[in-house]
Amino acid sequence: MKRYFIHTFGCQMNVNDSLRMSEVLAKLSYTPTPTPDDADLIILNTCAIREKAEDKMLSALGRYKPVKLSRGALIGVGGCVAQQEKDRLIKKVPYVDFVFGPDNIAKLPEIISRVEQERERVVETAFVDSEEYVFPRANAETSRGKITEFVTVMKGCDNVCSFCVVPHTRGREVSRAFPDVLTEVADLARVGVREVTLIGQNVNSYKGGISFAQLLLRTVEVPGIERVRFTTSHPHDLSDELIDAFRTQPKIAPHFHLPVQSGADRILKMMRRDYTVEQYLERLEKLRAARPGIAVTTDIIVGFPGETDEEFELTMKLTEQVRYENQFSFIYSPRPKTGAALREKDWGSVPHEVKIARLERLQKLQRKICGEITAAQVGLEVEVLVEGHSKYDAAKRFGRTPENRTVNFDGDAPAGALVKVLVERATPNQLMGRQTVVVMAPTVMPPPAEALAGVQPDRFPLVEA
Ligand code: 5AD
Ligand code: SF4
Repeated sequence: MKRYFIHTFGCQMNVNDSLRMSEVLAKLSYTPTPTPDDADLIILNTCAIREKAEDKMLSALGRYKPVKLSRGALIGVGGCVAQQEKDRLIKKVPYVDFVFGPDNIAKLPEIISRVEQERERVVETAFVDSEEYVFPRANAETSRGKITEFVTVMKGCDNVCSFCVVPHTRGREVSRAFPDVLTEVADLARVGVREVTLIGQNVNSYKGGISFAQLLLRTVEVPGIERVRFTTSHPHDLSDELIDAFRTQPKIAPHFHLPVQSGADRILKMMRRDYTVEQYLERLEKLRAARPGIAVTTDIIVGFPGETDEEFELTMKLTEQVRYENQFSFIYSPRPKTGAALREKDWGSVPHEVKIARLERLQKLQRKICGEITAAQVGLEVEVLVEGHSKYDAAKRFGRTPENRTVNFDGDAPAGALVKVLVERATPNQLMGRQTVVVMAPTVMPPPAEALAGVQPDRFPLVEA
């Protein structure tokens, strides 16, 4: 038996792709190992969204080089940097054995065999950005032991945001046919999954045979599924039909990630976001009327080329006004071949120290808002879907509220149960309390998911300098 280790960078799409890689490798009789040091195969599943993500990948590659030298481990690079750099990566890093794009995961057996048998260095980065693309079906056994799981509903992105590399690395939008999505959800429910998050770069423009709102409504009907989430959305595709689904179906979890990117109309225009702040707020108002108390999170870029102090103040003002549940905020990072990178000289770069100062102010404001929102939960009873034990204290339980707030609490309910927790304390990032009632016991008691042992996520922290 050979051992593999996958290091995952970036978004949920990558986390999910790493699971699919682990399934392909299992068929080749590879087993997962939790440390790279005894691996025979190391795969880096990379992200290209910001320069920092690429730097992180290069430094990880450097750390794995000794494993190659000492054990002859194969090193492969997949994901978005692989798609972007293609054979340049092989030339740049002499100890990388193969490079493969996100659409080439199913080809891993062939790629590995070419590397092993023919001693070739392989680059497979062909795109399939048409309806011919076959979405790899998840093996539900990979998720046994998990309570919440991601399900891919589409790939690629047809938007033209001037800062974004995704259309270059993931290609055009292709939706997964809805019966395929629902079958995967049902398979997951059978192994104990009770919450699914439907994922794609722009799920609201889903076109897999029914609308995205209809897909959500069908997903909650799958026996065993208690909550449905989704990410990520573009404000211009937030339809009235989707807002209505929030009004009528309580199992669609009251959390909406709606990236605004900036609070200034001129910057939004340069970003080619296709909405004004006023239009964004109008959508949000409708959503909040349909589902009072819905938690809204967002993404913000500070220091976009040409962003003035006044324009940054508008982002601060919007943050105050919306009172986001949370924000993922980033400093602008020019990406190869993107519109903004090509025009940065004309628009004017924001100096690095100004970007950092803006980011710090914004994050400080958001932390204050997070603290106020969680403090307001103290004394209330909240519903929690139990995911397991707390990572801070194995004697405590961990789960999330419908709004996706994390809760660590005293209690005895098993993973998969829905319980009520009385909130006794709060920090800006979590609620703490004690279990009062078990609302619903779990339907299945799954054993731990060993298949996950070799898949190490390296997700971005909520906020990043
Ligand atoms: N620089 C900084 N942040 C970026 N994002 C996307 N591209 C860039 C970039 N070039 C952010 C956006 C997006 C999130 C996933 O990453 O806010 O919504
Ligand atoms: Fe995900 Fe985008 Fe990063 Fe690719 S570049 S891993 S799609 S966040």
